[in-house]
Amino acid sequence: MTEVVESAQNPVILRASKRSIQSVNREWWRTAVIYQVYPRSFADGDGDGVGDLPGIASRLDALQELGIDAIWLSPFYTSPQRDGGYDVADYCDVDPLFGTLADFDALLHESHARGMRVIADIVPNHSSDRHPWFEAALASPPGSAERARYLFREGLGIDGELPPNNWPSHFGGPAWTRIVEADGTPGQWYLHLFDSSQPDFDWTNAEVREEFRSILRFWLDRGVDGFRVDVASSLVKAEGLPDRDYTLHEDLAPCTGQPGVHEIYRDWRALLDEYPGDRVLVAESWIKPLTRRAEWVRPDEMHQAFNDLFDDWDAPKLRGIIDDTISAFSAVGAPSTWVASNHDTVRQATRLSLPRSVRPNGLGPDSTGIPAYDETLPRARALALLTLSLPGAAYVYQGEELGLPEVADIPDEARQDPTFLRTEGEQYGRDGCRVPLPWVADAPSYGFGPTDASWLPQPAIWARLARDRQQNVADSTLTLYQDAIALRRSRTLGAGTLEWLPAHPSHVLAFRNGTTTVLINMGGEAVRLPAGEVLLASSPTQADTLEPDTAVWMHA
Ligand code: GLC
Repeated sequence: MTEVVESAQNPVILRASKRSIQSVNREWWRTAVIYQVYPRSFADGDGDGVGDLPGIASRLDALQELGIDAIWLSPFYTSPQRDGGYDVADYCDVDPLFGTLADFDALLHESHARGMRVIADIVPNHSSDRHPWFEAALASPPGSAERARYLFREGLGIDGELPPNNWPSHFGGPAWTRIVEADGTPGQWYLHLFDSSQPDFDWTNAEVREEFRSILRFWLDRGVDGFRVDVASSLVKAEGLPDRDYTLHEDLAPCTGQPGVHEIYRDWRALLDEYPGDRVLVAESWIKPLTRRAEWVRPDEMHQAFNDLFDDWDAPKLRGIIDDTISAFSAVGAPSTWVASNHDTVRQATRLSLPRSVRPNGLGPDSTGIPAYDETLPRARALALLTLSLPGAAYVYQGEELGLPEVADIPDEARQDPTFLRTEGEQYGRDGCRVPLPWVADAPSYGFGPTDASWLPQPAIWARLARDRQQNVADSTLTLYQDAIALRRSRTLGAGTLEWLPAHPSHVLAFRNGTTTVLINMGGEAVRLPAGEVLLASSPTQADTLEPDTAVWMHA
């Protein structure tokens, strides 16, 4: 059993069953390794082919063995699942697909008992069109209080037949849908920055603000350790919803990065600070430049904001992202927060080797230029050592610790990402990184659940990559992650500082973090390693040589 004892003085003392008594820095989130669970695809407890909360609870030992500090759970709320649960119909309940509130409480308790915190995902930009508020809005007349919680507007054109402005949906097509009024006539339009099943709230409405305060309290009272805030930069739109000027960069669009959004998070921060236990707010914001993104993590706002993903296998480019992130976030006293992959990106074992010219939103059976798995895995492993060696916090997306590749071979009829549907198949979307995980090579659904069912088809390579095939295998990707996370902890890399080392070719990143030297070779030629003890290598190393697509940690 774990006991969390908060004494009069800091720090919190955490007694965990497997970890010896240790003191945990109060600002745990500054250096934490946080593991993203996408509940639909992690583990299926009841055999219906969709992952669920009891499934996650049954696999907590594996996460504890990995050595992570916290779990971020993608949405598990009541939802028609038009966007994998990012379309919420009831923010204060668990969808029966995933279990019950009691299952959630048990999962939280069991995670805490293992010394792992739990961050929920809150979706404040939009609800589902099946949310009772949106249903009430549809049943109420234009100008009503019910409609005022969302962004309903009259259309343009002679009969209002044109959308109110030129904003596009992130999933393809226009960001507006016209409704049919109660009397059967074509009526107002409502805004949805994502799917038409995801109407945007009007955050100038006090009722919306109050509702989200009570949603935060609902989960904080149950004991969650914080929230990852979905689409955190778009809640407030420019007054009057003006047309977007396409000559300006997307980051200057009137539907994102409006100054008024910060007031919301200051309010939320004050609310979280009323609770004991160092709870956190994590911004999903892709606003650029990073100096602007850092506004989300000023001392009285959120705690973390994700960095820019490392998409290109290009050392100078990565170095630029690392420098810009550290300098922008440290200027406001916030940690850098490194994310290599998530449920919206092509998995890193595939992404990092795609030709530069190909930057698709998802891959499909007819996508070209996908390299063979064994050629691409080394880059994913090297990137893992890079992200886990940087000062700050790090996120690991489920399945990356197994080195899973993107699954391109998904038949059209199995695809569920609204992007695929809204672009009529032009973009494959994100299903390929959401295929249910392989746990046991020789079991139905590769151990994902007790039956053969899996909401997306699992590829044959899952047998080779299943967790049981990698456990206690010296050169497996799972072992690499376990070793890296353990070393990162013992060498306090998260709390360190980065110092670039001179005299390396430009395709090599080389830096020191405390007593650890990190080198990563992103070029085509091997380079000489400096003298010293290699602590960990992402691929086998020959004596004093750093091969291409390889990272090493050395004792400095
Ligand atoms: C975020 C989520 C993504 C979702 C979108 C709309 O970007 O990460 O999965 O589709 O928001 O909620």
